Amino acid sequence: MKIAVLKEIRPFEARVAVSPETVRKLIALGATVTVEQGAGTAAAMTDGDYQKAGAEIAATAVAATKGAEIILKVQRPMVAGEEILGEDGKKSKSSQDELKLINKGALLIGLMSPYGGDHVADYAKAGLTSFAMEFVPRITRAQTMDVLSSQANLAGYRSVLDAAAYYGHAFPMMMTAAGTIPPAKVLIMGVGVAGLQAIATARRLGAIVSATDVRLATKEQVKSLGANFIAVENDESRQAETAGGYAKEMSDDYKKQQAALIAETIKKQDIVICTALIPGRKAPILVTKEMVASMKPGSVIVDLAVEQGGNCEGVKLGQVTEVGGVKILGFANVPSRLAADASALYAKNLLAFLTPMIKDKKLAIPLEDEIIKASLLTHEGKVVHPNLANLAGK
Ligand code: NAI
Repeated sequence: MKIAVLKEIRPFEARVAVSPETVRKLIALGATVTVEQGAGTAAAMTDGDYQKAGAEIAATAVAATKGAEIILKVQRPMVAGEEILGEDGKKSKSSQDELKLINKGALLIGLMSPYGGDHVADYAKAGLTSFAMEFVPRITRAQTMDVLSSQANLAGYRSVLDAAAYYGHAFPMMMTAAGTIPPAKVLIMGVGVAGLQAIATARRLGAIVSATDVRLATKEQVKSLGANFIAVENDESRQAETAGGYAKEMSDDYKKQQAALIAETIKKQDIVICTALIPGRKAPILVTKEMVASMKPGSVIVDLAVEQGGNCEGVKLGQVTEVGGVKILGFANVPSRLAADASALYAKNLLAFLTPMIKDKKLAIPLEDEIIKASLLTHEGKVVHPNLANLAGK
């Protein structure tokens, strides 16, 4: 049972899908692991570390995938002709094709961006059994496999450090002989995993922190972290949470009330961290151009929702822009900005996901298991995921 790990080739991606620690454990399960040369370099995991853990190093992606039954990836495979946004901000068509390297019938596991287009149908056509780690349900048994949490937690932390780096003032109050520096005022929008970590990080740096969310269940969590909770509280927000714990799309009336409240709050803030997402949809616009214009010059907005269109009007993916002296940070792939930790945790998530599929050193996928059912995209030439039924005939 050969597992192949490729060097990620998408722009803004520095993570890798296995760590030396998980390589050792995968080998103990009966697998052989081949890592493409340099796959972990950007995440501070060297070829030598992988070799010491028992992996083989392959000079090319072709050699790594040859005969592999399982392909572990961070991001979905690149296909030739796909439009790619480069780190220089320019778009181009990919000339590389990772999908072609993967053997028919192989298992493909990674962050598949399952909602983003027809690529899932290509996996069915290629005869792959593919899994989207984003779809692993957030049940207790699957906590160790929860990539959304492991990566969002780091993104929340990093967003505050990025804000601090671009902010021309200190975060904590400092009383010095030369004068007093006031504490920074930070507003966190969206209090999921990333937002909670952003609150905790900003508090640790000494800021005065406020936070807002449509789910009122977050109120106690915000308060317990020592931040102020600001939100429209009405019948609609009392039911804003789905059974899965996610936010619903709110009504126009709610959005108007929320916008008025944010407009009032935001002009007093120095830093705004946006993390609001609705699964499978475009991110809600929470910070309008007018709100940006109302902020003090020198303020910083970090938009972690930028890959889903952004919470802040005018944010640009992969770029830092300035509007009226307000810096808007649209960094792409923020977990990858902490590639070493993000990779180590992601690798552990993958190990936890793969382990129940290996019995007596052989691959045996428990197709009836609820975690497998929820995350399986394609199998035996078909798109099988219920959320992607529109692709089933393709
Ligand atoms: P997410 O990344 O989907 O969204 C981030 C936050 O944005 C959410 O708190 C959401 O309510 C908020 N939001 C959405 N629209 C908004 C709007 N218009 N205005 C303001 N805020 C808005 O959320 P994430 O981090 O994936 O967490 C989702 C849920 O999953 C939470 O309830 C969390 O507690 C739960 N969870 C459960 C776990 C488990 O039981 N194993 C593990 C991790 C999270």
